[in-house]
Amino acid sequence: MKRVYSGIRATGRLHLGNYFGAVKGMLALQDTYDCIFSVVDLHAITTPYAPSSLQNSVREIIIDFLAAGLDPKKCHLEIQSKIPQHTELAYLLSTIYPVSRLEDLPTYKDKKAQYPKYVNMGLLYYPVLMAADVLLYKGELVPVGIDQEPHLEVMREIARKFNSMFGHPSTGSGSSTFPEPQRFKTEGEYVPSLTGKGKMSKTVDGSYINLTDDLAVIKKKLAAVPTDSGTIGGDLPKEGGVASLFVMMKLFKQENEYRKFENDYKNKTIRYSELKEVLTQGVYKELKPFQEKRKTLLDNPSLVDSIIADGQKECMEMAEETMKEVRQKMGFA
Ligand code: TYM
Repeated sequence: MKRVYSGIRATGRLHLGNYFGAVKGMLALQDTYDCIFSVVDLHAITTPYAPSSLQNSVREIIIDFLAAGLDPKKCHLEIQSKIPQHTELAYLLSTIYPVSRLEDLPTYKDKKAQYPKYVNMGLLYYPVLMAADVLLYKGELVPVGIDQEPHLEVMREIARKFNSMFGHPSTGSGSSTFPEPQRFKTEGEYVPSLTGKGKMSKTVDGSYINLTDDLAVIKKKLAAVPTDSGTIGGDLPKEGGVASLFVMMKLFKQENEYRKFENDYKNKTIRYSELKEVLTQGVYKELKPFQEKRKTLLDNPSLVDSIIADGQKECMEMAEETMKEVRQKMGFA
């Protein structure tokens, strides 16, 4: 069965970008594929973080996964740092990949600009560790947002390079070691920011709605979306706050309402307060069952503990299987 791998950094609560770009894809795949879904805590420490709250952040994401509908009977849940084979494989793969390629990646440049005082080796190494995450399980499909495409490209290049250098054991027999992973695209592969500029992001205040936000918070955040773009009438704008609101209506399947407000926009009769109220209700309706399930999980810590322990055992076995092969092919065994 094809393997699927995806991960979310333990850097705080999940927001709608994570949900539509990644979690929806994970949910769509868990019935059909052999899936591993991870809290990537080693990736979380490449940007400034608080060690005292890391463990809590990890657990919160596991709880978010479960509350969103990831089912440990259908998929394996992993905490990245608990499977040391990730860092072992990442180091081995780093020896076959050029530094210059990593320095050129837009994601690295963005992070450097965002944290000029925190440009560390881990940040440069990020895509290599991410490649190791997926290749450790020979993952073929990766449900992630469109922002991760450059990292997927690195993954494929590393897989190709490894296969061409070490894929065939010295006996001359055997097939290539790693598949070339492809991104699994969702309808929400790019969720725009509530500020109307760029994408929804954990690190940009005012840009996101968390899955745990209650009705009042959702209302407040949507009320702050800028709609005074100056233009009105004609086709809907492609960027800015108004565009973000319409994209969200679509993602929340408010098709009829979308058409109504689109017409209002064309006819210059649109009332944004009305649109925001409709959208607030749509968002809350989708998030309410998630939030209720979350509460029951918080009340049952031993269940969460046992799910984490089971996932770790299953993942360790799969990871070690690949590492035996890699160590042997690279000459360590
Ligand atoms: P992270 O935690 O930054 O993002 C988690 C997932 O959320 C998606 N995402 C979005 N999708 C659509 N619109 C948005 N505005 C938006 N914001 C975030 C991201 O694309 C991602 O899928 N590098 C990964 C973590 C990772 C990983 C892996 C993923 C580490 N190793 C191996 C897959 C496979 C990341 O960006 O995490």
